Amino acid sequence: MNLGVLVSGRGSNLQAIIDAIESGKLQDRISIVISNREKAYAIERCKKHSIPYVVIKRKDFPSREEFERAMVDILKERGVELVVLAGFMSILTKTFLSAFPMKVINIHPSLIPAFQGLNAQKQALEYGAKITGCTVHFVTEELDNGPVIVQACVPVLDTDTEESLSERILSYEHRILPQAIKWISQGRVKVEGRIVKVEGAKYGTLPVN
Ligand code: GAR
Repeated sequence: MNLGVLVSGRGSNLQAIIDAIESGKLQDRISIVISNREKAYAIERCKKHSIPYVVIKRKDFPSREEFERAMVDILKERGVELVVLAGFMSILTKTFLSAFPMKVINIHPSLIPAFQGLNAQKQALEYGAKITGCTVHFVTEELDNGPVIVQACVPVLDTDTEESLSERILSYEHRILPQAIKWISQGRVKVEGRIVKVEGAKYGTLPVN
């Protein structure tokens, strides 16, 4: 599949996709990376791996609608079939989502529906949760609440700081995001309302299968 990856920052999830492609675990290609921040470290990763990228900033457009249309135009030009939000910190509205119905996925650092929105790891710590995790879900107009494709749970330790917990969750994000892409790419993912079913998935076997 032709992937379009949207990023805003460090890009470690983008790197996990790049690594899965380079090691042959994923048969897909990254057709374009869009960053909404020009200083995103994710851009350095694109340069290093010769992946095409473009910076599209909200403030360069008079409206959110035009910003989203500009992204859609580039993704369509590049023949993108699946859009992956990998730490993309901007909300997408109908303008964008209607161009890619059920073809946009997001990685979120909690077990949704818990701890939606920003700083999910901090929210889990402050709530006193003993288990948290990460989720790959389809993106719908309901923020951080689309149908769940795959989740991994991660313990919260008494000694955790926001950094240590984020790092533990991140190591699972890097496994479930390529896994979800692989399942979709293989045509094994069926969505029935809120329920996502993956044909033949060995749930709980996290390494890409
Ligand atoms: C990841 O932890 C991702 O789950 C989170 O931002 C981080 C991006 O890291 N996304 C969200 O919170 C979305 N609501 P990365 O740039 O190294 O992939």
